[in-house]
Amino acid sequence: YYSLTLFPFLNFAHLSLNKYSHYYVYNLQMFRYLKTHYNLHSSPAGIRKKNANSVAAKLREMQSYFGLEVTGILDEETYELMQQPRCGVPDVGEYNFFPRKLKWSKNNLTYRIVNYTRDLTRAEVDRAFKKAFKVWSQVTPLNFTRIRSGTADIMISFGTKEHGDFYPFDGPSGLLAHAFPPGPNYGGDAHFDDDETWSTDSRGYNLFLVAAHEFGHSLGLEHSRDPGALMFPIYTYTGNTGFLLPDDDVQGIQALYGLSSFYPNPKHPKTPEKCDDNLSLDAITELRGEMVIFKDKFFWRLHPQMVEAELVLIKSFWPELPNKIDAAYENPMKDHVFIFRGKKFWALNAYDIVEGYPKKIYELGFPREMKTIDGAVHIKDTGKTLFFTGDKYWRYENQVMEKGYPRLIEEEFPGIGNRVDAVYQKNGIFSLSLLSLELVQIQNFQIVRVLKTNSIFLC
Ligand SMILES: *[C@@H]1O[C@H](CO)[C@@H](O)[C@H](O)[C@H]1NC(C)=O
Ligand SMILES: *[C@@H]1O[C@H](CO)[C@@H](O)[C@H](O)[C@H]1NC(C)=O
Ligand SMILES: *[C@@H]1O[C@H](CO)[C@@H](O)[C@H](O)[C@H]1NC(C)=O
Ligand SMILES: *[C@@H]1O[C@H](CO)[C@@H](O)[C@H](O)[C@H]1NC(C)=O
Ligand SMILES: [Zn+2]
Ligand SMILES: [Zn+2]
Repeated sequence: YYSLTLFPFLNFAHLSLNKYSHYYVYNLQMFRYLKTHYNLHSSPAGIRKKNANSVAAKLREMQSYFGLEVTGILDEETYELMQQPRCGVPDVGEYNFFPRKLKWSKNNLTYRIVNYTRDLTRAEVDRAFKKAFKVWSQVTPLNFTRIRSGTADIMISFGTKEHGDFYPFDGPSGLLAHAFPPGPNYGGDAHFDDDETWSTDSRGYNLFLVAAHEFGHSLGLEHSRDPGALMFPIYTYTGNTGFLLPDDDVQGIQALYGLSSFYPNPKHPKTPEKCDDNLSLDAITELRGEMVIFKDKFFWRLHPQMVEAELVLIKSFWPELPNKIDAAYENPMKDHVFIFRGKKFWALNAYDIVEGYPKKIYELGFPREMKTIDGAVHIKDTGKTLFFTGDKYWRYENQVMEKGYPRLIEEEFPGIGNRVDAVYQKNGIFSLSLLSLELVQIQNFQIVRVLKTNSIFLC
């Protein structure tokens, strides 16, 4: 069974084959996960029928929480998700930690750093926590003051395994940290698993990011189902600079404490909604039979047999890719997906970035001054690749740009205007997603249909 999960990305290829041959294996790790995060009561003595039903019910609850297909069965995707590093606070609120909507009844809160990890200097730890509190104080009337002795509202410590609160940590990875909701004693306290490697960058786990999430709990927030939210239970490193609290979290914390009186309120990033009437897209490609649709720091996976598209962070699959991309296409013969951002491009083979990448787009034969590519598509039948940029398009074959290009988009595809956001080809139909929020379908150089961009998701 374990060998199946060694390359979980093979999902992309295997889903269609395995869709209906699920794995009825209930393993110990799954029990532990559902017990910890979904309040499963299980007797360790095997699975009786009644018990099996409640396991299925808990699996369904978890699958629904994460937007997976709700089967009640431990399939590959569910199992894969259980392996990801996450926060130790359960996803079903009312049981272990959060009885009701809890909040502090004062706005002036204190915190104390009880002890430290050896992974970072004390100054680095202090800075990470200070910055993490600022994430929340910036958007609310809350004020955090550090004290160095006595009992603070929020006591912060590092511990391993059993560390005094009956919610033991689990060694490296798995559970990273947890925090208690507002209240006396343990209330508000945040504990970090010192068996993790803590960092100020992308190595191990970024202390600032994990702390900002935990302090959300310390202030009364539960987990969010929004994969873009800071309060999403699974850790993904999203970059080191310019962290902006996502809109979902701003809404949550302001519902509890109100707005900050002086904060200028910059744009907090909103997670895209696939059925938004105003949906525009960054890039579309196929990947081993699935459609992969990029928008901001996310992509949707759309499998031909799946009704619901699954939204995930780009960085949760490819940590080295940028948080936004311009264009993408698949060359199925090479089993590579090419990703473009600005003057750079990457070749992906499943989870891996192919050696030697990123490269510069001028290496493909584009002029050096060209800054960006809007859309790209590989035509399987002819082996040619089309690149769209501004009002022009280029054709590429056998690793060289063809003579006679670029041409004006308007020449070959009359009527589609002069700006392409994303382009793909399926069943001989060429679809271009345009700046005007339209999806234009072209066959034999004729426009056959004009749809709204969100029609890609059958909205
Ligand atoms: C907030 O608490 C700190 C520490 O207890 C105290 O020094 C400060 O005066 C308080 N500020 C307000 C506005 O109550
Ligand atoms: C926050 O606390 C600091 C330190 O106690 C204090 O100087 C400041 O006035 C407080 N700010 C607000 C908005 O309460
Ligand atoms: C830090 O403090 C916590 C709580 O008092 C304790 O459980 C833990 O063992 C301490 N860790 C270290 C590394 O001293
Ligand atoms: C779509 O955009 C228009 C113009 O910018 C705006 O008036 C409208 O409210 C937007 N609709 C949605 C659902 O965001
Ligand atoms: Zn959490
Ligand atoms: Zn703890």
